[in-house]
Amino acid sequence: MDKEYWKRIYQKQNEETLPSLFARSVTERLDVAGKRIIELGCGNGRDAIHFANHDAIVTAIDQCDNMIETLQYRFQRVETLQFECCDFTMLADGEPYDLVFSRFTLHSISEEQETNVLNWTIRNLKPGGHLCIEARGQKNEIYRIGQPVIDEPDAFILDGHYRRFINFNSFCKKLEHIGFNIEYAAEQKGFAPFNGDDETYMRIVASK
Ligand SMILES: C[S@@+](CC[C@H](N)C(=O)[O-])C[C@H]1O[C@@H](n2cnc3c(N)ncnc32)[C@H](O)[C@@H]1O
Repeated sequence: MDKEYWKRIYQKQNEETLPSLFARSVTERLDVAGKRIIELGCGNGRDAIHFANHDAIVTAIDQCDNMIETLQYRFQRVETLQFECCDFTMLADGEPYDLVFSRFTLHSISEEQETNVLNWTIRNLKPGGHLCIEARGQKNEIYRIGQPVIDEPDAFILDGHYRRFINFNSFCKKLEHIGFNIEYAAEQKGFAPFNGDDETYMRIVASK
């Protein structure tokens, strides 16, 4: 979804390149050295690079071919950091991961796609592996702003861009129903201050 929107953003090359606070919190909480990590929707790769700098073995995927080609060229000699252009809602099962990381990507897909991603994750995580998610929930300041999406009550188009606002409590129950153990879950400000704004986001760390 919104592939052209993100391609235009990345063409401008003015987005943040430092690792997110979320990625930094993950490496403070978990020892990722030697661990297999997959990042769903890596954007300009800043968090994937952060995990690789912490000695993880990282596969980072995004739908934007322009960004992925740039990253593949830049990191072609780094065996532990692989970038792939694909749709993370349609991943095939394979060798299991220790950690699945999704920052600001779950709200860019439909609820049905979210269910597919969570089911794929539980099948493709090692026992004890972690799912780390940061996304827009219904306490986010722009919830219900924009044009409603037909048949998706919590999704809106704003500035030509799709966003679905996740119900935090229902989402936590859904994770538990699928088989995850929630280790940390919060919906609050302070997670992702950006350009002087400090919006409310949800952050969840769950294990299999
Ligand atoms: C808000 S950006 C977040 C980028 C990065 N995670 C970060 O926090 O800096 C969302 C990214 O998810 C990607 N994305 C959204 N839906 C996707 C999908 N179904 N498959 C692959 N990438 C997707 C977009 O192309 C975009 O790069």
